[in-house]
Amino acid sequence: MIHPALRPLRCPVCVAPLADPAGSAGPAGPAGAVRCAAGHSFDVERSGYLNLRTGRARRVSGDTAEMVQARVDFLGRGHYAPLTARLVQLATAQAVEGNPPGAPEVVLEIGAGTAHHLAAVVDAAPRRFGIAVDVSKYALRRAARAHPRIGAVAFDVVDRWPLPDASVDVLLDVFAPRDLAEMRRLLRPGGTLLLVTPGEGHLAELREPLGLVGVQPGKRERLADELSGRFDRLAAETLTRTLRLGVDEAVDVALMGPTGHHTGRPELHRRLVAAWPPGRATLDVTASFVLHRATVGPTAAQR
Ligand SMILES: C[S@@+](CC[C@H](N)C(=O)[O-])C[C@H]1O[C@@H](n2cnc3c(N)ncnc32)[C@H](O)[C@@H]1O
Ligand SMILES: [Zn+2]
Repeated sequence: MIHPALRPLRCPVCVAPLADPAGSAGPAGPAGAVRCAAGHSFDVERSGYLNLRTGRARRVSGDTAEMVQARVDFLGRGHYAPLTARLVQLATAQAVEGNPPGAPEVVLEIGAGTAHHLAAVVDAAPRRFGIAVDVSKYALRRAARAHPRIGAVAFDVVDRWPLPDASVDVLLDVFAPRDLAEMRRLLRPGGTLLLVTPGEGHLAELREPLGLVGVQPGKRERLADELSGRFDRLAAETLTRTLRLGVDEAVDVALMGPTGHHTGRPELHRRLVAAWPPGRATLDVTASFVLHRATVGPTAAQR
């Protein structure tokens, strides 16, 4: 059975709607499949996500099991709760034009990881349904179980996104790859994009000991320029918090970023212990997020 939240999705080959064919594969195979009218077929994996990967995208694997576990542990301790709460507020503040009160609202998260933020946004209003997109099977397994009104789907953001024009009310992207043209195409008039990128001070205290890559100066302004070319009503704000982290938590937050693709936990742990202030159980670490909010104007024709 395809999850109800995933009904807006289209065939990534021919963009026709996808229907649930009856029956499922054998015990070792996928849990089921969906098919378009032209017969293109896609697996619903046993762990619960719909696999719409085609061609090159099948080779992109996204976050590893170790990175996803670090994300589960770190977010589960509430370290990024202020960011999640602000995303819920911003998503709720938007009013989508042409969407009658009480109509279902589609919230799409790109590079959703474990769907931690998406679950909070969806949970805030009973009419919201969430679509969690990722390429990591480890993340998708978690995302598929994150909330009863969330469905998880695998596709690569470098491909055309398999959703119709103007089909999404709120689009989230938190520290994840993006495609502003596709984001603009998918949002309904009145819909909102919430895009979160690291602020300049993000994890500054861990950069040297762990060899983390810093944020390029001027990144915020460049992204604001790119957004202003495509969206209406732009706003940006910075959210900064001091996190008090033990060694394992500091390793977790490092593993959640690009470093996790090339350096494993034992090496990060070794580096951090070597640089840790003697006699201290915790280290104060800056978390800094830039939240960009962009809204799609009344109608594309009027712009
Ligand atoms: C830094 S994590 C952010 C996860 C989530 N947004 C959060 O804040 O908890 C980036 C996510 O993007 C996914 N990702 C990387 N490349 C991708 C691609 N080409 N298409 C879709 N997702 C991708 C990764 O697997 C990972 O889960
Ligand atoms: Zn098709």
